[in-house]
Amino acid sequence: MIRLAHLSDLHFGRTDTNLLLPLEEELAQARPDLVVISGDLTLSAREREFREAAAFIRALPAPCLVVPGNHDIPSHHALERLVNPFRRWHSHIGTDLEPTWIDSRIALIGVNTVQRASWRINWSHGRIGRRHLARIEHRLSALPPAPIRVVVGHHPFFAPDPVLQNRVLRRSDEALRMFRRHRVRLVLAGHLHRAFMHELPGEDPAWPLLVVHGGTTISTRLRGESNAFNIIDLETDGTVRVEARVWTDGQWLGQTHPVLPGTS
Ligand SMILES: [Fe+2]
Ligand SMILES: [Fe+2]
Repeated sequence: MIRLAHLSDLHFGRTDTNLLLPLEEELAQARPDLVVISGDLTLSAREREFREAAAFIRALPAPCLVVPGNHDIPSHHALERLVNPFRRWHSHIGTDLEPTWIDSRIALIGVNTVQRASWRINWSHGRIGRRHLARIEHRLSALPPAPIRVVVGHHPFFAPDPVLQNRVLRRSDEALRMFRRHRVRLVLAGHLHRAFMHELPGEDPAWPLLVVHGGTTISTRLRGESNAFNIIDLETDGTVRVEARVWTDGQWLGQTHPVLPGTS
């Protein structure tokens, strides 16, 4: 068994600092093998916010795989966003915007869905292009067969209701089909600040694709939901157990997300 802690949308710059110590204690108790953060480490990609985010990552009780979110490139500085959007990410968080983690039990593929500008839609909505999808497919093809496969991105590949459909990545259907073709068991994402799960049948019926969204773990940008993160246990036979830890009356309470219906 391997245990992941899935955090998302930390938004340093607008965090509820009362949650930091309880989160640290909860993570120490949960003893994850890996911590995954599905983007939006900061509020506005400012130096101070990245310094806080980097210190938070250094203090985690396990190795951390993190991908950028739209708030991790400067929104207030259009020129820097266009010319060198990840400068601060690179200096504080790491050089790799699409990290990979592989061991004998699990293979995680980080995907950077952030776009710096767009003619068509709000740049904050994210993007995944055809060539990008081909590169991801190439990475999945190169993985050894045995480990459980997990894809981590910031923007949603699936929306929990029709109102949020315009926030879903274009080509998400194509991406999800490709993930299923490559026997991906789990997709982790954030951005919506809403926690939910959605299961799609796999090409191999014994190996469905589970899409899991995290709420915002410690920010005050709550959008009607409580702060939350996920503890995810994966067995080598493909069994997945997801438990949300939801901040309720001053403590992290275990809860199960509803599994949303949807078409394949
Ligand atoms: Fe966010
Ligand atoms: Fe976001």
